[in-house]
Amino acid sequence: MLHVSFSRVYQFSSAHRLHSDILNDFENEAIYDKCNNPHGHGHDYTVEVTLQADPDPDTGMVYSMEEFDSVIGDVLSELDYRHLDQEVPFFKDHISTGEIIIQYLWMRISERLPEGLLYHIRLWETNNNYFDLGKESA
Ligand code: NI
Repeated sequence: MLHVSFSRVYQFSSAHRLHSDILNDFENEAIYDKCNNPHGHGHDYTVEVTLQADPDPDTGMVYSMEEFDSVIGDVLSELDYRHLDQEVPFFKDHISTGEIIIQYLWMRISERLPEGLLYHIRLWETNNNYFDLGKESA
């Protein structure tokens, strides 16, 4: 069965510090290296969000671009220009690795979209690192 997907790319900028309360300072530094800097550091994140559905017969679109931008804008505004660990409640007790940030994005975006529409998220943390979360290909 063939499906149509629709993707858009967004940006946000956040500061964070990778630190696990379960590990001691030596272990934290060994695992996270410079990302464990107590003063934190920042990233310009890029997030690619993909929706998948049959196009609406009335509009010929998978989803309204305006609605899409509004949903993603709401979610990213809670992260943009924030220190994730200090200002975003979820990250007070979740380590702000790319792996966890993408899970947070999936949770926050999927709860704002029609059921089953969110298909895939790719989160770029740097030019060299990205994370993927999504459904199996149909
Ligand atoms: Ni980092």
